[in-house]
Amino acid sequence: SQLLKNIQRGKEDRAASLRLLRQGLQHRENQQKFIRLEGSMRVLIGLFTGNLADLQMDAARCLHELSHSSDPDVVEACLPATSYLLTYLSGHSVALMELCLYTLGNLVVEMTAVKKQLLPQGIIPVLASCIQSPHVVVREGVGYVLSQLLQSKEAPAEIIPLVLNSTLPKDMLHLVCSNLEEGIGAAVEFAWGLHYIICSRVNNSLLISQRTVPSLVQLLLELASVMSTTSVEGVELLICPVVRCVANLLAEDEVGDGELVEQEERLLRALFEFIQYFVSEHLFIAQECLWLINNLTADSIRSCSALLNPDLFPSLLKLLSYERLSLLVLTVLCNIAAKGSACCQALHQKAVLFPLISILALPDDQVVAQDLEVLHLLFHHWPEAAADFVGQSGLQALEQHQDKLQLQEQVKVLIWTAKELTGTILA
Ligand SMILES: *[C@@H]1O[C@H](CO)[C@@H](O)[C@H](O)[C@H]1NC(C)=O
Ligand SMILES: *[C@@H]1O[C@H](CO)[C@@H](O)[C@H](O)[C@H]1NC(C)=O
Ligand SMILES: *[C@@H]1O[C@H](CO)[C@@H](O)[C@H](O)[C@H]1NC(C)=O
Repeated sequence: SQLLKNIQRGKEDRAASLRLLRQGLQHRENQQKFIRLEGSMRVLIGLFTGNLADLQMDAARCLHELSHSSDPDVVEACLPATSYLLTYLSGHSVALMELCLYTLGNLVVEMTAVKKQLLPQGIIPVLASCIQSPHVVVREGVGYVLSQLLQSKEAPAEIIPLVLNSTLPKDMLHLVCSNLEEGIGAAVEFAWGLHYIICSRVNNSLLISQRTVPSLVQLLLELASVMSTTSVEGVELLICPVVRCVANLLAEDEVGDGELVEQEERLLRALFEFIQYFVSEHLFIAQECLWLINNLTADSIRSCSALLNPDLFPSLLKLLSYERLSLLVLTVLCNIAAKGSACCQALHQKAVLFPLISILALPDDQVVAQDLEVLHLLFHHWPEAAADFVGQSGLQALEQHQDKLQLQEQVKVLIWTAKELTGTILA
C-alpha cells in the first residue's frame, strides 16, 4: 500500500518503489492484496502505457509477475492490459515486446481471457506478424504464446481454425526447419505448436498440402547427419515433437503413398541413428522413433524390406532387450511378418527365432502375447520356421504359459500349429 502511494504521488523514488513492488509481486499473497487496493491496477496500467520508458518497463515487469498467477481474480485484474500488450507487439522495443509476449503467454492459460479479450482484440493476426520478426527472442516469445494457446482444451474449437486460416502454420514450419544456427529454443516451441495443431485434426489436409511431411522428414535427415559429426545441445527436445508430427500426419489417409518413397529408407536410417544415440540416456526418444517406425512399417512393404537390411535389422533386434521398448519392437516385427512369406523367410534367416523364444520367459503377459503374434505370423507364412522353433525347444517355452487365462488360447493354437507343421501332431 505504501509503495502504491509513493508511485501514485509521483515522487522521485517512483522507479525504486516500482522495482520493490515488482519483487513483492513475486509472492502469491501480495498479488492478491495488491489487486484489491483501490486504483492499483489503474496506476500500474497507466505507467505501462505512459511515455516514460524506464517506468514503462518496470510496470511491464510488474504485470508479468501478476500474469504468473493461477488465481482467476489476479488474471481478471490483468485483463484491462491485454489490448496494450498486443499494441506494443508492433512497437520498436525488442525488450518490451519480449516481456509483453511472455506476459500474454501466461495470461492465455485462462480461457475466458482468450475468448472475451484476446481473440476479439486480434491476437492471431498480431502473432502472425510478430513471428516474422528478425529478432530471435521475439520469435521465441511468439513460440511460447502459441504453444500455450494451442494446447488448451478449447483450442480445436476456438483457436486452431483461426490459426489455420492465417500464415502462421507456414511460418511455424519454416522456423522449425531452418533456425538451428540460432539455437533450437524457438524451433522446439513451434514444433510442439504444430504437434497440437496436428493432434486436433481440424484440417490436416491443409498441413499436408503445405508439404509439412517432406519438410519435417528432411529436417530429421539433417539432424541425423549433423549429430554424427557434432553434438547439438538439447537436440532431443526437438526430435521428439517433430517425430510425433510426422507419425500423426502419416496416419492421415491423404498422405500419398508416393510422398515418402525417396526419403523412406533414409528416414529409417536416421531414426535408428537417433535411437542408438539416445537409447541409454533419453529412452523416450527411442520410444518416439519406434512409434514412427511402427507407423512406417504398418502399410509399407518398402519400409519392411529396408528394415531387413543387414545394417539395420541387428540394431532392431538388440532393442528387444530393453524392457520398455520390447513391446514396440515386437509390434514392428509383426508388421514385417504380416507382409508374407518373403519377409518371413528373411526374418527366419536373420535368426529372429532365438530372441523370440527368449522373450517367452518374460513375466509381462502383454509382451508375451505380442511375441506369440509374431510367431503365429511366421509359422503361417514360413512353415520352416516352425520346425526350427521346435528344434530350439520352443514348445517347452510355450508350455509354461498354458495356464495363463489371457494367453491360453493363443498358446494352444500355436502349439497345435507347430506340431502340425512339423508332423509331430500324431506323436
Ligand atoms: C480467414 O481469413 C480471411 C482473411 O485473412 C478472412 O476474410 C476470413 O473471414 C477468415 N475466415 C475465417 C473462418 O476466419
Ligand atoms: C482445409 O483447408 C483447405 C485449404 O484451405 C480447404 O480447401 C478445406 O475446405 C479445409 N477443410 C476443412 C474441413 O475445413
Ligand atoms: C500412426 O501413429 C499414430 C499416432 O502415434 C496412431 O494413432 C496411428 O494409429 C498409427 N498408424 C498406424 C498405421 O500404425
